[in-house]
Amino acid sequence: MDNNQIEEMIGLAIEQLAYAYTPYSGFKVGAALLTSGGKYYTGCNIENAAYTPTNCAERTAFFKAVSEGERSFQAICIVGGKDGVLTEYAAPCGVCRQVMMEFCDPETFRIILAVSKEQYDVFTLKEMLPLGFGPLNLA
Ligand code: THU
Repeated sequence: MDNNQIEEMIGLAIEQLAYAYTPYSGFKVGAALLTSGGKYYTGCNIENAAYTPTNCAERTAFFKAVSEGERSFQAICIVGGKDGVLTEYAAPCGVCRQVMMEFCDPETFRIILAVSKEQYDVFTLKEMLPLGFGPLNLA
């Protein structure tokens, strides 16, 4: 993953904010997921009147990709903010980190948290989910 790809992912994630369905929280999240083969899958959060069926942007992107046959991923970029205004990093929730753990190598999978194309930080999944429980624990 090079700097051009990071900028591209940030742009794609920001575009997703327009599609976030957030009538309850108003907190809009966009994600762009990069496969090992170099393909992008995007996602937004989709809320629900019953609250718990709400799907986070990251999981939307993962489930779109996995449902199309992808199983191997390099990185995900996440942006988010109240009313879609980006002022600080929107870190992935615990459930989304666990979904990443299912399909990604915690040592190499990168999580890019961004406020803009100029302001971002890159973390590994291992940094965000230390001692994570994953498929290898059941092998
Ligand atoms: N949200 C995400 O989309 N991703 C996260 O990892 C954190 C939370 C969404 C869910 C809900 O629609 C809104 O942000 C407020 O929690």
